[in-house]
Amino acid sequence: MSRNMDATPAMDAYWMPFTANRQFKKSPRLLTGADGMYFTDDKGRQILDGIAGLWCVNAGHNRPRIVEAIQKQAAELDFAPPFQMGHPKAFELAERLVELTPAGLNKVFYTNSGSEAVETALKMAIAYHRVRGEGARTRLIGRERGYHGVNFGGISVGGMVGNRKMFGTLLSGVDHIRHTHDPARNAYSVGQPAYGAEFANDLENIINLHDASTIAAVIVEPVAGSTGVLIPPVGYLQRLSVICDKHGILLIFDEVITGFGRTGNPFAAQTFGVTPDLMTVAKGLTNGSVPMGAVFAKQGIYDTFMHGPEHVIELFHGYTYSGHPLACAAALGALDTYAEDGLLTRATEMQGYFAEALHSLKGLPNVIDIRNIGLIGGVELSPLPGEPAKRAFSIFLDCWEQGLLVRTTGDTVALSPPLIIERSHIDRIIETLRGALLRAA
Ligand SMILES: Cc1ncc(COP(=O)(O)O)c(C=O)c1O
Repeated sequence: MSRNMDATPAMDAYWMPFTANRQFKKSPRLLTGADGMYFTDDKGRQILDGIAGLWCVNAGHNRPRIVEAIQKQAAELDFAPPFQMGHPKAFELAERLVELTPAGLNKVFYTNSGSEAVETALKMAIAYHRVRGEGARTRLIGRERGYHGVNFGGISVGGMVGNRKMFGTLLSGVDHIRHTHDPARNAYSVGQPAYGAEFANDLENIINLHDASTIAAVIVEPVAGSTGVLIPPVGYLQRLSVICDKHGILLIFDEVITGFGRTGNPFAAQTFGVTPDLMTVAKGLTNGSVPMGAVFAKQGIYDTFMHGPEHVIELFHGYTYSGHPLACAAALGALDTYAEDGLLTRATEMQGYFAEALHSLKGLPNVIDIRNIGLIGGVELSPLPGEPAKRAFSIFLDCWEQGLLVRTTGDTVALSPPLIIERSHIDRIIETLRGALLRAA
């Protein structure tokens, strides 16, 4: 019997994801409950959730409609095979979702995570060109400092060195445009930075190198989260879209973190006024309650596949749990909750107060940049010499001790609180962070 009868469970067996396992197991941080803006830890402390769990619990925790929907669904239809079969909620959810998406993105393909949504979108793009007789369009273009999940397609188009270097040669035929982070010109921008639309011209250079006839798609996050909250410069996404259109290249927005209200609209595509051809989502789709992702596709992409004999499968792709009944029920509950509380646009109301509070941290020790959009914030710190990411991690640990959950990526502290946040929570987040920054000095 290896089971530990203490309140703290035995910790040997679980290999934790994206975690410093040895550090964690020496000093565990265990969450045992959650409600509204707060987690409860195993010591009974209330922990203010500054990151919506992991950019997903946009309506806050333990929302009754979602809880009830999941409970009811589990007792009614626990599973339905998604291949050659359907269940009503999968269709109902798709109809509801396309009411929220930018005009034209009106087909929904279900996955179980953001990573799977990315793989699905990349495969759709390549297959789409092949079906229309341009099978040479197989190259995929990503961006430096991009994060698109952890599967092979995603890490290939992604641009995070740590996520790539351990895993061999990745996909072939992938190239990257430059990231848009330009602190020399844009440090401390409030909202979108003014400079850098021209970074999109990198795509023209890549087209000149490979020829557009070999390129299937470009994938970017409208706002890059995992590499430290990088906000697109004014005009950048527009220019990228124009170049893609000009050359018949599909534009994919990875909205896994920006979807469902994070930037003040249902999707960042609406905030920035650019509609991609394919769009990936996950996280907020079910308010984080049941794993689920999706790809939204334009009608024309779907139609391209709908040829040939009617009994033949048009796209050889899908997952056992695509459109899982529990996930669909949870997502419907989440959409109801978002609608009832006006959460998909609430970030526009709160972003001014949030931005002002966040930028009040300017001038504190080791703060070198502050970035924000909607209810997303990033505070970048100067790295400790020779020890990248350590300074921010110590801030994370200090905040945890003070009862606040933040997230760090490299030396940036990232904030993405539930969209139900009130001003008093913002004040507490910022004052806790201020204290931690002062203590770390
Ligand atoms: C932009 C983006 N794409 C994809 C993913 C991967 O999502 P998942 O962890 O659900 O596979 C993430 C996760 O944070 C993300 O931020």
